Amino acid sequence: MTAPAESPLTALIVDDLANQGWSHQHLVLPADLTTALAEECRARSAAGSLAPASVGRGEGQQIREGVRGDRIHWLEPGQSAASDAYLALMDELRQRLNRELYMGLEDFECHFALYPPGAFYQKHLDRFRDDDRRAVSVVAYLNADWQPDQGGALRLYLADGEHDVQPEGGSLVVFLSAELPHEVLPANRERLSLAGWFRRRGGAL
Ligand code: OGA
Ligand code: MN
Repeated sequence: MTAPAESPLTALIVDDLANQGWSHQHLVLPADLTTALAEECRARSAAGSLAPASVGRGEGQQIREGVRGDRIHWLEPGQSAASDAYLALMDELRQRLNRELYMGLEDFECHFALYPPGAFYQKHLDRFRDDDRRAVSVVAYLNADWQPDQGGALRLYLADGEHDVQPEGGSLVVFLSAELPHEVLPANRERLSLAGWFRRRGGAL
């Protein structure tokens, strides 16, 4: 049996996660995939099918625009060729993380997120207090020609200080969900991303 082709990109992400718990890969998604995903997100927005994001889970779920102001759509397999291509890339990364770091990641959940101008997401951790399945967060950006003076950075609160990532289309940020506090700063233009989580087995505590 031959091993699947090993992509250099997933190797870099695995090394970064093992060494520092996070990874930023600039302009790594295929350009046509980034464009197709951005178009799909905008089309869903225009059709009114993005819903205000909530905070918390289960019965504790609430919509609080003072905490996060993005609008979202959860990806389902088969909803579009672009979404399926993205989910396939993520599954490749999931398998690589399991093989090399023994992470035991079982599945991936992911949503489009559209932040209107001025919207933000306050400092938070991605792992819920009452559900510890989320292990690794992956954010992919879908914004062409992002300029730093447009705001909208993802601010990571690392052990040695803050680090801002620009939401430039085609870039990926991957980090350990339970460990890295982060926030989305407001932007003066619409900001599109795909936010996703590799989950372990387990369940609500
Ligand atoms: C999230 C999140 C970051 C981003 O949805 O939990 O932190 O840059 N998103 O969109
Ligand atoms: Mn988050």
